[in-house]
Amino acid sequence: MKKVIILNASPRANGNTDILCRTCAEAIEKNGCEAEIISFRGKSFKSCIACNTCKEKKGECAIKDDGLNEIIDKIKDAKGLIVASPVYFGTARGDMMSAIQRISMVSYGGDRFLSGMVGGPIAVARRGGHTATIQELLMFYFINDMIVAGSDYWNMAFGKAPGEVEEDSEGLAVISKFGANVANIINKMN
Ligand SMILES: Cc1cc2nc3c(=O)[nH]c(=O)nc-3n(C[C@H](O)[C@H](O)[C@H](O)COP(=O)(O)O)c2cc1C
Repeated sequence: MKKVIILNASPRANGNTDILCRTCAEAIEKNGCEAEIISFRGKSFKSCIACNTCKEKKGECAIKDDGLNEIIDKIKDAKGLIVASPVYFGTARGDMMSAIQRISMVSYGGDRFLSGMVGGPIAVARRGGHTATIQELLMFYFINDMIVAGSDYWNMAFGKAPGEVEEDSEGLAVISKFGANVANIINKMN
């Protein structure tokens, strides 16, 4: 079955990003693809160190002690990639930016495994910064020749304390539709 990887950048267990990732995964699976959520909880991703090792030793990052290469291997086997982040001071959480910048470099330096993958960003926040975060994360998709799925609204929801996002029924429905669209696009592709 075609697979979609969902990166959850929240450090919190059972937090709001996790709930949105699970909502999205459920919709993906209802529409005929497999979904795997990878949580950043307990992990810490360094920024790209511009060593260019990924160009020489194609397919992997020189920073080997934080588990990102294992995540890259999973992405290479998937058809879809979704990046979900809590909003921190109006932007995506730093570990998410570190991870997707390094994933981009490894793809660029190698066989461009991100090219043609389907997905899009998801943002959750207490009150503000969702759209700036979504725009920031979209830069990853567009420079890597990826295909971005839409929904009935932007992929955002409201919540502060863990679980609060459950009260945002519109946000949950938007994420569910987005997940279904990701799976449907993948299924229509060769
Ligand atoms: C360091 C930090 C910065 C935050 N900055 C914002 C912000 O700019 N705007 C906002 O509305 N909420 C902000 N929040 C609240 C979180 O986005 C919100 O609690 C979110 O639901 C957390 O997702 P999680 O439960 O998946 O960790 C911030 C929280 C933290 C810890």
